[in-house]
Amino acid sequence: MDLGASQDILGGHTPCASLVAPVIAGAEILSLSAVEVESISSRADPLSTAIEPFYLNFCNVSVVLTHPGASDTVFVDVWLPTSDWNGRYQAMGGGGLAAGYGGLMLAGPLSEGYLTSSTDGGLTLNNTVDPQSGKWALNEDGTSNDDLQLNLAWRSIHDMVLLSKDLSQQFYGVEPSYSYWHGCSQGGRQGYAAAAQYPEDFDGILAIAPAIYIPELVVADFWPPVVMQNNTVPPFCVLEEYQRAIIAKCDPLDGVTDGLISDHDLLESCPFDPDTLVGHTVSCNSACATLDIGILMEMDVPCEGLKELTITTEHATVVREILQGPRTSNGKPLWYGLAPGAAFFAVANTIEDEDGNWIPSPFIVAKSWLKYFVFKHPDYETTKMSTADYEKAFDISTSQLGELWGNQHLNLTAFKDAGGKLLTWMGLADEYIPPNGMLRFRENLEKQFGGAEAVDEFQRLFFAPGAGHCSGGHGPLPVDPLIALRGWVENGTAPETLPAMTISPENVKVSRNLCRYPKKLIYNEGPVALASSFSCA
Ligand SMILES: *[C@@H]1O[C@H](CO)[C@@H](O)[C@H](O)[C@H]1NC(C)=O
Ligand SMILES: *[C@@H]1O[C@H](CO)[C@@H](O)[C@H](O)[C@H]1NC(C)=O
Ligand SMILES: *[C@@H]1O[C@H](CO)[C@@H](O)[C@H](O)[C@H]1NC(C)=O
Ligand SMILES: *[C@@H]1O[C@H](CO)[C@@H](O)[C@H](O)[C@H]1NC(C)=O
Repeated sequence: MDLGASQDILGGHTPCASLVAPVIAGAEILSLSAVEVESISSRADPLSTAIEPFYLNFCNVSVVLTHPGASDTVFVDVWLPTSDWNGRYQAMGGGGLAAGYGGLMLAGPLSEGYLTSSTDGGLTLNNTVDPQSGKWALNEDGTSNDDLQLNLAWRSIHDMVLLSKDLSQQFYGVEPSYSYWHGCSQGGRQGYAAAAQYPEDFDGILAIAPAIYIPELVVADFWPPVVMQNNTVPPFCVLEEYQRAIIAKCDPLDGVTDGLISDHDLLESCPFDPDTLVGHTVSCNSACATLDIGILMEMDVPCEGLKELTITTEHATVVREILQGPRTSNGKPLWYGLAPGAAFFAVANTIEDEDGNWIPSPFIVAKSWLKYFVFKHPDYETTKMSTADYEKAFDISTSQLGELWGNQHLNLTAFKDAGGKLLTWMGLADEYIPPNGMLRFRENLEKQFGGAEAVDEFQRLFFAPGAGHCSGGHGPLPVDPLIALRGWVENGTAPETLPAMTISPENVKVSRNLCRYPKKLIYNEGPVALASSFSCA
C-alpha cells in the first residue's frame, strides 16, 4: 500500500466523538467511548526508545466487549494519533500472565506516530484482579476458565486487531499501511501465536524473548525453589558469587574476555563446576537483596551489616541442580536450567525472613501457573512441594495444557506464505526463559521449512550476549529492533545484524552488532567495548 495516501488525509480525520462500535465476528461490543486527549504529558514506557516525557495528542478509544456464551469482559484501549500519524499500526503485547498493560505501554508507540492498542483479554475480571495472580484461569466452581485462557492464548489479539483496523478506517479513512506486533516474554509468545492463528493480521512481528514451550518453561521456572526446599536455601549473596564465577569461567571460552558469554553453544557446554567455590568465603550484606516485585520490576532492599559466609557443598549442590534444570528422580532431563551467566534473582531468588532464615522467593508467574493452571487449586501450598509433586506438576502441565499452550499451534506456514516477517531477539543471559527453548524451536522450524535459509526468509533470530529478559542483564540491548523489522517489511531489507548498546556500571558505552543466528560474534582486534572490534561468523 502507498503511505502517501494515508498521509494526505492527516489533519482531515473525522471527529473522535463520531466513532462507532465496529462489528467483530464472534464478539459483541458492550460499549465504546472515544474522547479526544490533548497535550497530555507522559513518561516513556519501558519498551520505548524515548527518554524525555512527551506530549501526546490522540483519540482515546476504550472498548468493552464480550464473547457470547463466555461471560468475559474484555477491555481494549486504542489510541489514534490526531496529528503526525505515521500511517502504521503497532499492537502491544503483555507479559507474565497478562495479555497487555493498557495505557502504560501505549505512550511510547503513540509518541512515535503509531496508531497503537492493548487489551487486557478479560483477565483483570472487570478490573478486579491482577492478572499475574492467575486467578482468572479458574471459574468460581474450580474448573478451568477456557474462555479466558483462549483469550490469552490468541483470541484477544485478533479481536483487538480487527477493532483497531476498523477504527483506523473510520478515523483516517484508510486502514494502516503496515501493521506490527510488539511484545516480549508472554508478549513474544502472543506474537508467534498471532502469526500462526491469524497470518493476515500483521505484516511484521517483533517477538522478543518469547515464552514459547510455556507448559515446560513455566514449571521449569519453579525448579529452583523445589531444589532449595529439598536441600538448603543459599543466602542470596552466595548465588551472586556463583553468577560472577560462572561468567569468569565461561566468558573467555568465546575467544575474548569482555564480561559477556557470547557463544550460544556455551548454553549447553559451559564447563563450570559449582564445587570449585566450596570453602570460599563471601562478604554478605544482611537483608540486602533484589526483589522481584512483579513481572519485569525489581526493587533493591537496602543492606545492613557485613557478614562473612563460607560456601558449602550443599550450596554447590543446589547451584548445580539449578544450572542443570529440572530432572526426574531417575535423572531424565525435563527442561533446561538457568542460562550460564544469567542472574539468579528471577527464578532462584532467596530472601531472609523475620527470624533471619533464608527462604526461596519464587517467581510469581510460576507459582500462579502451578496453582491455577496445573493443580487448579488456589490453596495449593507450593512451599511444601516435594520433588515427586514437582514431577507430577511437570507431567500435568505438558500433557494436559497443550491444547491452548503447546507449540503444536505455532505452524507458521501460512504466515510465511502471506509474506509476513518475524523478528526475534533474546538475551543469552535471560534469567526467566532459558534461551535453549528458542534454539530448539528454531531447529524445528529449519526441519519443517528445509533449512536455515528458508526460515531466514520470514523468521530471523538474534542472540544478545549478556542481555537479560526483555530489557535486563549486563549485555548490550538492541537499540531499535522495530526499525529493523520495518526495513525488512517495507523495503525488503532483511536484517543481517542488530545494533545493540548498553552503558556498563563503570559508565563505559559498550556496543555490539548482534549476529543473525546461527552466526556468532567473533573478536578480531580493538577495544572490547566497541562493536567494530567484532564480526559475525
Ligand atoms: C482513556 O479513556 C478511558 C475510558 O474513558 C479512561 O479510563 C482513561 O483514563 C483515558 N486515558 C487517557 C490517557 O486519557
Ligand atoms: C464491570 O464493573 C463495572 C463497575 O466497575 C460495572 O458497572 C459493570 O456492570 C461490570 N461489568 C460486568 C459485565 O460485570
Ligand atoms: C532431594 O533430596 C534427596 C534426599 O536428600 C536426594 O536424594 C535428591 O537427590 C534430592 N533431589 C533434588 C532434586 O535435589
Ligand atoms: C502447517 O500448515 C500448512 C497449511 O498452512 C499445512 O499444509 C501443513 O501440513 C502444516 N504443518 C504442520 C506441521 O502441521
